[in-house]
Amino acid sequence: MNERILELFQQSPEAYVSGEEISRRLNVSRTAIWKHIEELRAAGYEFEAAPRKGYRLVSKPDKWQVTELLQGLRTKVLGQKVHVYGEVDSTQTIAHALVASGAPEGTLVLAEAQTAGRGRMGRAWHSPAGKGIWMSLVLTPRVPVYFLPQLTLLSAVALCRSIQKVCQVDIGIKWPNDLLIKGKKVSGILLESSGEDERLKYVIAGIGISVNLKVEDYPEELRSVATSLAIESGAEIKRETLVQAFLLEFEELYALYLEKGFSPIRLLWEALSVTLKRPIRTHSPSGVIEGIADSLDDSGALTVITGNGEKIKVYSGDIELR
Ligand code: BTN
Repeated sequence: MNERILELFQQSPEAYVSGEEISRRLNVSRTAIWKHIEELRAAGYEFEAAPRKGYRLVSKPDKWQVTELLQGLRTKVLGQKVHVYGEVDSTQTIAHALVASGAPEGTLVLAEAQTAGRGRMGRAWHSPAGKGIWMSLVLTPRVPVYFLPQLTLLSAVALCRSIQKVCQVDIGIKWPNDLLIKGKKVSGILLESSGEDERLKYVIAGIGISVNLKVEDYPEELRSVATSLAIESGAEIKRETLVQAFLLEFEELYALYLEKGFSPIRLLWEALSVTLKRPIRTHSPSGVIEGIADSLDDSGALTVITGNGEKIKVYSGDIELR
């Protein structure tokens, strides 16, 4: 039925189609039409509703253009194998399953929408259809498992630099890997891994970038803390271009990391940080820590200097900028 409703709108683009007309032509009730329009809205179609005129199709969801993505891809390994889905629960789940069936390093999973997008620390990730980049990247670095936080920071650097190259926005990294524009979150990274003999067997880097969401695409409770690249830059961004830029940036930094270790990545992270030298608060198992975020150590932990001059390392969790 959704397809048939869309066909009706496509026959008269730009025009209003009344509920009565849809109901007559498709032989369904007005309530059923309303339900289908709501389903299409959830799938990324935008409709304008006007009293006495009916509905007008304003825009269709963006769809991944895989051929275009691959044609403009300048990487050797990352993204050379792409799996594209419409709606999935989480691209992370799919990437884990692909690894189990032998998917090689660089395999990329992209989805238009996620119904159960996973965030860090058990949170959900808002992933509406066609509006963002919801992707998972398979990596197989043979490094010790305790290097994982370094890869988290590397991912944030790659993402931040690629966004700076593609979009005109002032973006920075909040420890460990949230990307913020004017204090609001625009992108998040979730690394999930599996180890063997104390070395990483594989890592799934899950990346969410809120690209073309409008304010009304966010639930009320996220509007004061989250934003999108389009809202902040004032222009729609081509998702394929950003994925290409990210994969290239990641591949270059990853090669540098595997050859030279974490030091060069740490310097880049520090240069992009909106955290260092600022007052922060965090919750640790032993209570609340407040102080000035001072520096990153070699493992990727954040050193915080408290009011009484004590240096405390924060290894995981979230911080609040005060
Ligand atoms: C965070 O900041 O909490 C991390 C968010 C990570 C979201 C991405 S979207 C693609 C991938 N699939 C998921 O389920 N989560 C990650």
